[in-house]
Amino acid sequence: AVHSKKGMDATQKMNPFAEQEAWEDHQIGKATLNFGAKNKEATDNYQFVFEDQIDFIKASVLAGENYEDEMLPVTGQSFSGKSSFEMLQDVRKTLPIYSYRDQLLKAIEDHQVLVIVGDTGSGKTTQIPQYLHEAGYTKHGKVGCTQPRRIAAMSVAARVAHEMGVKLGHDVGYSVRFEDCTSEKTVLKYMTDGMLLRELLGEPDLASYSVIIVDEAHERTLSTDILFGLVKDMARLRPDLKLLISSATMDAEKFSNYFDAAPIFIFPGRRFPVDVSFVAAPEADYLDAAIVTVLQIHVNEPLGDILVFLPGQEEIENVEETLKNKIRGFGTKIRELIICPIYANLPSEIQAKVFEPTPEGARKVVLATNIAETSLTIDGIKYVVDPGFCKIKSYNPRNGMESLLVTPISKASAMQRSGRAGRTSPGKCFRLYTAYNFENDMEDNTVPEIQRTNLASVVLALKSLGIDDLLNFDFMDPPPAEALVKALELLFALGALNKLGKLTKVGRKMAEFPLDPMLSKMIVASEKYMCSDEIISIAAMLSVGSYIFYRPKDKQVHADNARLNFHTGNVGDHIALLKVYNSWKETDYSTQWCYENYIQVRSMKRARDIRDQLEGLLERVEIKVSTNFHNLDLVRKSIVAGFFLHTAKLQKDGSYRTAKHPLTVHIYPSSGLSQVVPRWVVYHELVLTSKEYMRQVTELTPNWLVEIAPHYYQLKDVEDGASKKLPKATGRAMA
Ligand code: CDP
Ligand code: MG
Repeated sequence: AVHSKKGMDATQKMNPFAEQEAWEDHQIGKATLNFGAKNKEATDNYQFVFEDQIDFIKASVLAGENYEDEMLPVTGQSFSGKSSFEMLQDVRKTLPIYSYRDQLLKAIEDHQVLVIVGDTGSGKTTQIPQYLHEAGYTKHGKVGCTQPRRIAAMSVAARVAHEMGVKLGHDVGYSVRFEDCTSEKTVLKYMTDGMLLRELLGEPDLASYSVIIVDEAHERTLSTDILFGLVKDMARLRPDLKLLISSATMDAEKFSNYFDAAPIFIFPGRRFPVDVSFVAAPEADYLDAAIVTVLQIHVNEPLGDILVFLPGQEEIENVEETLKNKIRGFGTKIRELIICPIYANLPSEIQAKVFEPTPEGARKVVLATNIAETSLTIDGIKYVVDPGFCKIKSYNPRNGMESLLVTPISKASAMQRSGRAGRTSPGKCFRLYTAYNFENDMEDNTVPEIQRTNLASVVLALKSLGIDDLLNFDFMDPPPAEALVKALELLFALGALNKLGKLTKVGRKMAEFPLDPMLSKMIVASEKYMCSDEIISIAAMLSVGSYIFYRPKDKQVHADNARLNFHTGNVGDHIALLKVYNSWKETDYSTQWCYENYIQVRSMKRARDIRDQLEGLLERVEIKVSTNFHNLDLVRKSIVAGFFLHTAKLQKDGSYRTAKHPLTVHIYPSSGLSQVVPRWVVYHELVLTSKEYMRQVTELTPNWLVEIAPHYYQLKDVEDGASKKLPKATGRAMA
């Protein structure tokens, strides 16, 4: 058993509500705190706190009151005689934020910039834009609301369109990378923070907006942090623009200080007590532990849905598969358990399933990434299983290596996760780590992304906005200077910046593409090599990620053979991706063809959409679409023009060594080149699993490096010991 009796006892003694109290104490404490005194206007700075409400909740929590009879009506519950539209209006009125509607609107009217803090699920994202619309703010411009995640932007927009009884894409729309679902009529626009950043490139004063809401500000994504600096400036330039910074956590003081002592509007959510338990001893395998815990809950606990936090898609698919098998084993001995995965890459039809009400007598288990921590609220969750891990990007500016690692979460994350269990009724949270781990090993907060990521693409965006002095940009938390310098060096190497750090013509074109600068450079370079048609197909396929081929457990051999068919000629994975795309196109985008070749239809359709958009952007930067499928050398040269920093050379022991900042790497096992081991390769990305692997690898001729990037490679870099022993690479046999 994962939760030994001993472990449970230990936690029971620990006062299960301790966290909740701490939170509420904090909230009350804040009302009396004098903060944000950055300038003399600080006297103007105040907070809206509704202490009576908090006292009520706190008292009830302490008394351990049962909230059962106060259960909120949830979507789908029937209200006799009412239309579904009216029912939804009733549901809107039950959200915690509703009681503060008028006070909130008054505060927005009185202040240009306002920081808003409220619990996850209290209605900030779905209601505030509607309140603004009802109050007339959309008469003179749009209300834009940013989300760190595309899936949140899409699902929230759909929900709001539904609540307003309008068609998605008309009055309410969303805009995410490669997908714009808005129209002339759109007045409430949900978008990713990255998209607003891109919109700024075309509309630097955001003239078409009357209100900007930077939502989920606590997530502190790279784009959100950059937006902070830009919208802060804009608020000064445009006194008519309202700026709302909304957050689910208590670090509002920091936001307030940053935005010139903006007032903070805090409203309490409706929280039910959550019984939090830790394991007594560390778990050896957290996935296993998660599965056992879910089954224990399902068998032993009263009805109510379960939410399990897992690091990523792979882990979710694993757990889903194992759970399905175990449930099948139980047969009809246990009640129905509906398994709903949710992660960013999941197709929207399946995503929608998680919001459907659970049928009577059944239980739903939601397997989610961090996305369910604050961005998405799923009704009916009573149990949370928290293994304590998430996938976090980290960046080493010294060698420019970026990696996505499974890392322990922060204490703040752990609290958010447990809070998900007590939104509509009292709940339980099972932490699959020890209380000692929580206290001693977890950081208080997650480090903001800006301090642990490659900055090349935001630096390019800022440069094209005319912001040249990056060291003095008004960052809330500045990135390491080393990372900024590295980004400038990279953009210089790619030819996007000149020696003075100014944007070049190439850089201007690159900035038009919503892609990583190396991919953008590859596309811009394809003009010279007259193969833009092939290159945008490759770029689109790479953007879809690693979900092109599928490999069903019972047909692995067939699937592998089908995949290898695209590798004939063996010059590399990029070319194989191109062949997949072109073959699919030749069948007139046939679904049947995808099935026969073990290819994910949905990924292909997405690739086609992305490709269409890239084609439109080619036109915008005046690059002709030219095709050169019979000279794949030119296609490979374009790839090298974008990725010459990502090259590696074969070593005697069969491993590879990256060219400039030596690091031992390997070809990813599923690569078409893993058995071929060419002498020099260019790779798309490095992934760290058991070893450092290069994913999407293509063979190159070393002389190309000197030809294409003479400022970066000299003859001595590519002529070496190895070339003396091995026969010189001659013209490649092409497929
Ligand atoms: O932004 P915040 O976390 O404060 O709350 P919200 O996202 O506005 O959610 C308010 C309510 O809308 C919750 O009860 C959600 O369950 C519901 N909602 C939904 O049913 N479907 C969505 N796609 C988003 C929210
Ligand atoms: Mg929200």
